[in-house]
Amino acid sequence: MLFETMPVITGAETDAALRFCAEQVVRNLPEFTYQFQKAYSEHSFYQPIENTDWTTGFWTGEIWLSYEYMTAAGDPSAALLKKAGEIQVESFLDRIVRKIEVDHHDMGFLYTPSCVAAYKLTGNQKGREAAIKAADQLITRYHPVGEFIQAWGAMDAPENYRLIIDCLLNLPLLYWASDETGDLRYRDIAEKHIHTAIRNVIREDYSTWHTFFFDRKTGAPDHGATCQGYRDGSAWARGQAWGIYGCALAYRYTKQPEYIDLFCHVSEYFLRHLPADMIPYWDLTFTDGDDQPRDSSSASIAACGMLEMIRFMEPDDAAVWRTYAMQLVKSLLDHYAVTDPAVSNGLVLHSTYSNHSPYNTCNHYGVDECNSWGDYFYMEALTRLQKDWNPYW
Ligand code: GLY
Repeated sequence: MLFETMPVITGAETDAALRFCAEQVVRNLPEFTYQFQKAYSEHSFYQPIENTDWTTGFWTGEIWLSYEYMTAAGDPSAALLKKAGEIQVESFLDRIVRKIEVDHHDMGFLYTPSCVAAYKLTGNQKGREAAIKAADQLITRYHPVGEFIQAWGAMDAPENYRLIIDCLLNLPLLYWASDETGDLRYRDIAEKHIHTAIRNVIREDYSTWHTFFFDRKTGAPDHGATCQGYRDGSAWARGQAWGIYGCALAYRYTKQPEYIDLFCHVSEYFLRHLPADMIPYWDLTFTDGDDQPRDSSSASIAACGMLEMIRFMEPDDAAVWRTYAMQLVKSLLDHYAVTDPAVSNGLVLHSTYSNHSPYNTCNHYGVDECNSWGDYFYMEALTRLQKDWNPYW
């Protein structure tokens, strides 16, 4: 086993960390009930935004995770959290009805931790309606030629005839929609996308491509390219982490045995490229001694993927991956988590959204800050460690 001497988080630490997160979320409610947290903090503080970005579902997801925690703890703030979650669900319903900034593939990131969660936890019917409409929107982005869901841009734009690895997290919405409606179209599209994505984004050495292009006429795989990684051919840390969680979800939904093997290989690549404290730099090319920012959100996403996968593993293998997840979360707690509300209104510092390099195609923002998914997946990992969690995904 790698990182043999790294400590694991204890049960008491998990509970205390989760309590701090839930209390931080409650403290944020006055500012962020009718508005949402921006994707990333500035000088460690989130500003409020309207419900227009691909990231707003994570904040609502934090509200629902806090609601779960406070309900179990018998804390009266549970009622406040439920009310705030319901207000946000109404905003998501309005957004999908009016089609505000929904011409992209991130319907799962938006509608799973917000609306599917609301429906699963409280039977919220507006959440159900909104999430089914979001699934309808997502399948409009499916290309039968190539069998994938296009991530970004106009559907006829040649420069965007591609999928991205992150999309594996958007697909549970489609499986859920099939289960809810009995309409198998959603699930069929999800399954086709999963197979296409996994066949193409995972390289021979089990590092991953961020994005992958297909031939528009034949659908044949064309080439991989990065957008947010350091360069083509390197492994963007968060892409690798989406791959870890994505393989676990792919197994859960398809039960293809080879996806467990792929999960192990993709996760091992991630672990082998971590610095001493296990929290990756923004691209796995970098390590201790490199003057580069971290992406703490990748550690949380990877931990969640591991905790998802172990639900389907033999006990000995499950124990190994649970230990890695507990080490990742312990390091986040000890060195990256916010401990003082005066320092930040977020949950986890030192994350990187989009770091421009001479070799990539992304803009530069949210570097070495909190970000909304980093906070959400940290809470999800803690919740998964604390109890037998019924996943929103
Ligand atoms: N899904 C976009 C990102 O991870 O930055």
